[in-house]
Amino acid sequence: MNKYISYSKVLKQIAVDKGNFKTVLFREFKGDSKLKEAYGILIKAVKNYDKIVEIGSLINQKEKKNIIGNMQLFCVLVIEQFYSKKKKIEGGGQLKKIITENKDFIASQLNIDQNADNNSNLIKQDVHVRWISKDSTQNKQTKEKQVSKKKSSEDKMQIEDIRLQNQMIQKAQPDDIIENLYTINYNDYQAVISKDSSVLDSTDIVIQSKSSAMPVYLLFKNIIDSQSNESLSEASRPSKSFDIIDCCSAPGNKTMQAAEYIKGRGKVFAFEKNQQRFELLKERVQKYGFEQVISCLNEDFLSVDVTQYPNVEYFVADPSCSGTGMLNHIYFDEDQIQLEEENLQNQQTKKSFMERTQQIFESYDNKMKQRIVGLGQFQLKILNKLATFPSIKAFSYSTCSIHQQENEDVVFKFLQENKSFQLVEACPQWKTRGFKTKNLPDGNKCIRFNPFEDKSDGFFVALFQKK
Ligand SMILES: C[S@@+](CC[C@H](N)C(=O)[O-])C[C@H]1O[C@@H](n2cnc3c(N)ncnc32)[C@H](O)[C@@H]1O
Repeated sequence: MNKYISYSKVLKQIAVDKGNFKTVLFREFKGDSKLKEAYGILIKAVKNYDKIVEIGSLINQKEKKNIIGNMQLFCVLVIEQFYSKKKKIEGGGQLKKIITENKDFIASQLNIDQNADNNSNLIKQDVHVRWISKDSTQNKQTKEKQVSKKKSSEDKMQIEDIRLQNQMIQKAQPDDIIENLYTINYNDYQAVISKDSSVLDSTDIVIQSKSSAMPVYLLFKNIIDSQSNESLSEASRPSKSFDIIDCCSAPGNKTMQAAEYIKGRGKVFAFEKNQQRFELLKERVQKYGFEQVISCLNEDFLSVDVTQYPNVEYFVADPSCSGTGMLNHIYFDEDQIQLEEENLQNQQTKKSFMERTQQIFESYDNKMKQRIVGLGQFQLKILNKLATFPSIKAFSYSTCSIHQQENEDVVFKFLQENKSFQLVEACPQWKTRGFKTKNLPDGNKCIRFNPFEDKSDGFFVALFQKK
């Protein structure tokens, strides 16, 4: 308990006496073996201070006496109990007893899901729900039957009704960019599914992060269906009917999105090399009723005979990557996330996203560095392959990696090796842009998601068109 008392004294100097966080912390703990732990607890204690004091006051009111005398100590112990890796207060004492007795109350006040992992209590990303337009999934016959049974306006009302009934959608906000995508706060999402997890079985919705929904949305919005983009080449315009290939498709979120947006103009061929993942892809395509539009193929995309696909004009390339943009990824431990939070809080010393990804890359061991470079080479192979299809007009390339070695560097090498392609500016209104690198000065035509700022997994999207 002694160390908590020393942390609480430091917290008082910062939160009550308004001392500078780093100055006070280093004055008290410099050279002390407790520095790292003190930093970890105090940065969260400062951030959540007002809320935890408010909770302490509510407990005092409930008990009708001042049972929590030392609010700073209470705050430090609450952080240890709910936000630390061990989630356990060492030693005993009256305050620990109070926290244990009021555990559920405190957790609910802090909006903490006690079953969630550590990281999700630190940065809670939004959950995105994509509403699937049923029109595109129904085959012609069923659609005709429905139309004869109901007038179209009634049909529409029925869809609105289901929409309202769906608890998930009721709690969600429509996205400002992607049509039919809704954003739901992490805690509201947990609350809905803990009450009724059957909403996740619905074939009206798919849980797909905003970042994951971007590539196919932009391929259609910025290229295939774009009326206004003057920088589009004639060679990138769609024929009246055309097919699409999703090169690396399981579990099929992007495949199904492409099938939905193609709106009767053609088919989607979904390649998936891994047998188990292929089964999952097939199962989902069936569950959502897309069998009429999507052909699933358990094949290595790199070995496909391109002459067999003369009508394929567009490609979705979302190849295997390091997944380093996913916050629940093993490479983001609590310390790293803390560093990011601290980096974001101080505007003056804030490092750019590019600098941070470089620092993170440098912190990896050689094996991991080689893995990332190797994945970049694999992604380039996929892009080089799709460039050989006879009728290719445009494609999207995406990863959920934050590293330049898999993203901008791959784009640069592809353009170097395929002179008949060029980048299309993706989603001009999106703030987080691809990195301008020495080799790729127009890397900002691509978009990125910063997992620490954009409330969705880290992601990269590039759009290419035939010149
Ligand atoms: C990032 S995941 C795709 C996720 C998918 N686009 C989605 O949004 O649901 C990459 C997939 O590509 C598959 N894959 C890897 N190499 C492949 C290859 N040579 N041919 C076809 N699929 C491949 C992997 O097994 C994995 O399922």
